[in-house]
This record gives sequence, structure tokens and C-alpha cells, in this order.
Amino acid sequence: MEPTHRFLRACLGLSVDRTPVWMMRQAGRYLPQYRSVRSQSSFMGLCKTPDLACEVTLQPIDEFEMDAAILFSDILIPLEAMGVPVEFTEEGPVLPSPVRDAARVERLADPDPEETLPFVMEAIRRIRRSLAGRVPLIGFSGAPFTLASYMVEGGGSKNFTHLKRLLFASPASAHALLGKIAATVSRYLEAQVAAGAEAVQIFDTWAGILTPRDFAEFALRYSRDVIDRLRSSPTFSSSRVPIIYYVNGCAPYLDKLSRSGADVVGLDWKVDIGDARARLGPGVAVQGNLDPTALFLPKEAIEGRVREILDAAGRTGHVFNLGHGVLPETDPEHVRAMVKAVKSHG
Ligand code: CP3
Repeated sequence: MEPTHRFLRACLGLSVDRTPVWMMRQAGRYLPQYRSVRSQSSFMGLCKTPDLACEVTLQPIDEFEMDAAILFSDILIPLEAMGVPVEFTEEGPVLPSPVRDAARVERLADPDPEETLPFVMEAIRRIRRSLAGRVPLIGFSGAPFTLASYMVEGGGSKNFTHLKRLLFASPASAHALLGKIAATVSRYLEAQVAAGAEAVQIFDTWAGILTPRDFAEFALRYSRDVIDRLRSSPTFSSSRVPIIYYVNGCAPYLDKLSRSGADVVGLDWKVDIGDARARLGPGVAVQGNLDPTALFLPKEAIEGRVREILDAAGRTGHVFNLGHGVLPETDPEHVRAMVKAVKSHG
């Protein structure tokens, strides 16, 4: 059966009445409603309380009428289940006991997502009930490489020296780590879909730090492994669940990304979306790619930027999005102007 929501149709390259639009990090600090809920709870508390996660997931849908909702959670949430604690601080995420040697890789847990992350699946069920079919719900996970970068660095990083030392000086441990994460990620995404997620996005935020050959060896191979496992799982093959693979800094790897197995490649803003399409070839849809800081332009100027992207992408197999997450400093009225522009020109 063909899907009815325009977001799901566009992901699968089917005809749509207009280009759908949503934003990465659309439920977040730029929204006063989010800051109000967040003032009563820690970020981790929001992620682990299904009612609150449900409430903030729906805020941007109610406010701007995007064409898809994205689960409120974080890519780092499943790391705890693998045995690597995570803290969210003012300066960003901190992992106090990073994974840097073979013994630690060996000791990582192989978690059952339903048992260790029940609050995620419960949030998904509640969100689906509250959405009542208005728009589809996207589940997500970090890609193995990006999750490994947080596990090894112990947080954000500038030069990724610990990670790169592991990749190049202990490649067997690096591959063992990436393989373990890929197994967890695929089971986690399967559980999300079983709970009600209607599409999934895999975030490879840090894969752009790699040379093209290292991208193929350490990032793409394991994301493709996740995608292959999903495609062969009964949960995914019985319904058409689109898989979106987002790589921040994707431009050097576009020829390789045509072989990721994903239905949609998510593009950052540093690549021309028309060129990216041509390099990806037929059979793969694209998502993106407005520069998040373009929302700092005067409201009237946003429409022109939106139209350039819509024109360059062509009108089929395109999901309009930002090239990265919406920034906390963004004026919600400028988000509204962007959504309106996509709806009138898409
Ligand atoms: O609306 C949505 O898109 C869903 C929610 C979502 C969050 N994080 C909420 C969040 C999603 C999809 C993510 C993914 C995520 N998390 C990524 C991949 C996408 C990307 O942005 O590249 C990454 C790298 C992370 C890791 C992470 N989480 C960082 C680096 C930080 C701190 C920096 C920052 O932006 O604050 C977080 C915290 C975080 N995740 C917040 C939110 C709303 C802010 C926490 C707060 O309320 O204080």
C-alpha cells in the first residue's frame, strides 16, 4: 500500500502535491514553549519522561504545522545502555569515562532497547496517539561513527585526536567498537519502528572530519551495515519505512553516498542541492539544505533563499529542511516565514 502522508511519499520518490518541510532540532531552545517546559526539568529528565517528551515533540507541529514530527530525545541516550554514562552540561555533553582501549570495547554491553530504553518506546507510542495521524513521526539514532566519536572523545572535540588515534593506531579495536555500536543502533531503530516510528533518520554529524577513504572505511560501512540490517528485519520490510541518512559535511562523499542504501540523503548547506542530486544519481531522494543562519536574514529575504533551494532540488524526491539543526538564537517568526515560503512555492 502506498503511504498517504506527503513527507513519507517524498522520501520514497512518489508524487506529492507540494514539497514537505520539517527542521532538524525543531523542538528546542529557540521555542519559548520549550524553554518553559525545560525550566521545570533537566534535559535528561525531558528525554526520560514520556509525557514531557511527547509534549515538546508536538510544540513545533502545533505552532508551525510542519509536515513531520521528530521524536524528542538525543543521539547520546542509548550510550548509557551500552555502559557509557552521559551528562548534559551548559557546555554540551560530557562522557566522564570515555572508551579508549580494547578491554573497554570488549566490556561494552549489548543492550535490549525495550528493556534498557523503555521510556523512548513509550514516548513514541504517546506521540503517535497525540498526533492521531496529523503528520508522521520520525524516529532517529546517531550513526555508528558519530556515536563512537562521542564515546572515544568523551564529549565534543576540535581535532578528534583520541578518536583518530584509535582508528589509525588500533584499527581492530576501532572496528570492534563500530561493529558493536552498529548492532545496537539497528536494534534500537527496529524497536522505535515497532513502537510506531514511521520513518527513521540516522545522524552522522561528525563523519565530515574524515578523508574520503576513511569515510568509506569507518563511517559509511557501518551506517550501511545498520541500513542493511533494517532492510532485512520483518518490522521494516512489512511496511515501507523510509530511512534518511544525514552526513554533515557530505560534499566530498556524495558519489559514495549513492550506495548507502538509504532512501533519502540529508544534505548540509555547504553543497548545492542540484549538484548533490546529480552526483547522487537517480533512486535516492534528498533532504535539505537551508543554511540555519539564513533564518537570521530579514523575514522578507527568507522566501528568496527557500525558492532557490526548491528550484535547484526539482519538485520530486525532495524534503525541505535546514542543512543542520535550528540554532537556539533563531526567531520563531522567521521559522514561520520559512515554512510559509515552502508551502507557497513548494
Ligand atoms: O527536534 C529534534 O530534532 C529532536 C531532538 C534532538 C535533540 N538532539 C535535542 C537536543 C535531536 C534529533 C538531537 C540529535 C543530536 N544530538 C545530534 C545530531 C544532530 C546534530 O545536531 O548534528 C547531536 C550531535 C547531538 C548531541 C548533542 N545534544 C549536543 C552536541 C548537545 C549540546 C549542544 C546543544 O545544541 O545544546 C545536545 C543537547 C540537546 N539535544 C538539546 C536539545 C534540545 C539542548 C539541551 C537543552 O535543552 O539544554
